[in-house]
Amino acid sequence: MKYEVDQINDLIENRRAIFPKQFTEEPIASEVLTQLLENANWAPTHRRTEPWRFVVVRGEARARMGDILADLYLKNTPTEKYSERKHLKKASNPRRSAAIIAICMKRHEELLPEWEEIAATACAVQNLWLTATAYGLGGYWSSPSVIKSQEIRAFLELPEDQICLGFFYLGKYSSEHPKGQRNSIAEKVRWLND
Ligand SMILES: Cc1cc2nc3c(=O)[nH]c(=O)nc-3n(C[C@H](O)[C@H](O)[C@H](O)COP(=O)(O)O)c2cc1C
Repeated sequence: MKYEVDQINDLIENRRAIFPKQFTEEPIASEVLTQLLENANWAPTHRRTEPWRFVVVRGEARARMGDILADLYLKNTPTEKYSERKHLKKASNPRRSAAIIAICMKRHEELLPEWEEIAATACAVQNLWLTATAYGLGGYWSSPSVIKSQEIRAFLELPEDQICLGFFYLGKYSSEHPKGQRNSIAEKVRWLND
């Protein structure tokens, strides 16, 4: 057998959402980021539309992104719901990350329904996430409603035929690896044998 199945099982089970507050703020080498993206690119794709697109936000652009997210929070949150902690988090999450990978998708309306391209893009994200886990990196997929906003589209310089499906916050972390939790697969599967 070419692959160590036990290792792959372990990798999949131990992929976790790790949040920016756990990040150490150390940089991640460009070669590693490139490998994450290369692996994302091997996702399955119906009719080979390869709809996933990524925008890697690094360096000073992280602070710009944090400021935009904080401004949008302020603009969209009614006074009675305002939380200073959340407001500050919007600004600090990108700054605490080594990189933020905006998860985007290019539509091929004439070829496929949208759900198939969203599904393919999610497969690409899983590849990226598992690769990050293998490198010992932390990260998670964040999907705030502002991903649809003009401000975020302008920041990412998104073309008309693309949408943003979220941000993958990425960083090194030194805290304990969180324990995962799932209900049994037996509750979610029915076997038809005859
Ligand atoms: C499409 C998608 C969107 C997500 N959006 C968010 C989000 O906005 N905020 C968040 O805290 N986690 C988000 N997550 C991550 C989940 O919270 C996380 O996967 C879940 O808590 C289970 O934890 P685990 O992945 O470590 O097992 C998202 C995950 C997916 C697949």
